[in-house]
Amino acid sequence: MSLAYKHEQVAAIIAAQQGRPGALLPILHDMQDALGFIPPDAVALIATALNLTRAEVHGVITFYHYFRSTSPAKHTIQICCAEACQSMGAEQLVKHAEKRLAGRKDGEYALQPVYCLGLCATSPAMMVNDKLHARVTPERFDRLLKKIGGGS
Ligand code: FES
Repeated sequence: MSLAYKHEQVAAIIAAQQGRPGALLPILHDMQDALGFIPPDAVALIATALNLTRAEVHGVITFYHYFRSTSPAKHTIQICCAEACQSMGAEQLVKHAEKRLAGRKDGEYALQPVYCLGLCATSPAMMVNDKLHARVTPERFDRLLKKIGGGS
């Protein structure tokens, strides 16, 4: 599982359809097929690529019940990769998380990048199953993972 890979995957899906008329639905379908859901961060990228507003893209995603905005995994772990968190060690935290989650059962954990969780002053930040956590060190990550049943 690699956050960078997922970001590239999202960009490639958008690029493959971008020039076509009515590209929004094909992009959303391709993304859901490839990732199992439409990552919230992809909304802004799709909007920019298709010259739409985020609200327009979000509106289409929520209109069709088929599209999911959350990962189908049992636990979703989102690590902030925006500037303030990067400067406080988010990259090392992502690497640590990838190492800890490597080899886990498919569908158990989804590790995703997010770009600002609003906790910049107490970075690095992450969200586990919709719960925010600030000042996350690798040790704290391990404790949180243990708490949700993934510790070793
Ligand atoms: S930059 Fe990470 S929470 Fe704002």
